[in-house]
Amino acid sequence: MKRRARARPRAWLEVSVHTSVEASEAAGAALLELAKGFAEEHTQGGVRLVAHVPDGSVARCCAEAVRQRLHGLRRFGLDPGPAEVEVRRVQVRSWASAYRRHFRPFRVGRFLIRPPWSRRRARPGETVLVMNPGMAFGTGLHESTRLCLRALPEVVRRGARVADVGTGSGILAVAAAKLGARVVAVDCDRLACSVAQANVRANQVGGRVRVFAGDLLQPVRGRVDVVVMNITAEVLVRAAPQVRKRLRPGGAWVASGMVDGTVDAVLRAAQKLGLVAERVLADGEWRAVVFRLPAEGRGAAAARAG
Ligand SMILES: C[S@@+](CC[C@H](N)C(=O)[O-])C[C@H]1O[C@@H](n2cnc3c(N)ncnc32)[C@H](O)[C@@H]1O
Repeated sequence: MKRRARARPRAWLEVSVHTSVEASEAAGAALLELAKGFAEEHTQGGVRLVAHVPDGSVARCCAEAVRQRLHGLRRFGLDPGPAEVEVRRVQVRSWASAYRRHFRPFRVGRFLIRPPWSRRRARPGETVLVMNPGMAFGTGLHESTRLCLRALPEVVRRGARVADVGTGSGILAVAAAKLGARVVAVDCDRLACSVAQANVRANQVGGRVRVFAGDLLQPVRGRVDVVVMNITAEVLVRAAPQVRKRLRPGGAWVASGMVDGTVDAVLRAAQKLGLVAERVLADGEWRAVVFRLPAEGRGAAAARAG
């Protein structure tokens, strides 16, 4: 059943670290374990690093770990300066405007990804994705998203039916639509769904993408040619039987969101269902696997036997 996606307010934490110039690199590394990026400001006699993360107990514990790491630098002969870590809840609006300063156009394969406020032009043959991720995951900056953007042009044919499960900002749904596909985009987070819908509209692919709130492939009806899913290994394993059920013979599953040590569990779950690993893509410690459901015939029989 289709559910109306509705935005709901969400609390964010601003983690602000005040430290010395000499300790700023170590402090930045600690912050990157908590957030996808941070802003840096020079202060009198030091540096302030500011990151924004969704509020939650994990985020608060990580912020405390950053504080301890800073104080621990003394043992290595580094003066952390004031070594102050402040954590405060912020309004969504202030986070969004902080975010604007850091999102610049960039390229992944044949895609140029740019925020709506940038006027950067595409080179010949490039496809533009206008992305305003707002509060949802998916600027395209993360390795796991980039791996999917590299894989999609290889598996999506014009007119194909694609399911983007865990759509976040909708970036992969928009990319698939621009490759000529009809897309069903799903996210369990209604806020992400409304962000995805806004991005679908901004890219003028509303006629080809429908966004649903729901769990995994539950809102997808009928068979699809491609499933793209960038979540986590645990969720990929849980989703594998649903993917198998919804894929047309010959169809592809682009599974991303795994790090090196977690790929095997997904490979085992998929192979048990007759999905064949066709290609493994890597970016740093991140991995994506392109699985294929063999077309009916010899390949399918072999997959069933093996
Ligand atoms: C890592 S983000 C990926 C966003 C985007 N597709 C990308 O590649 O950048 C994962 C998304 O999956 C969603 N998600 C997590 N578990 C889910 C589930 N069981 N069903 C649907 N969506 C899920 C999250 O809300 C989040 O938006």
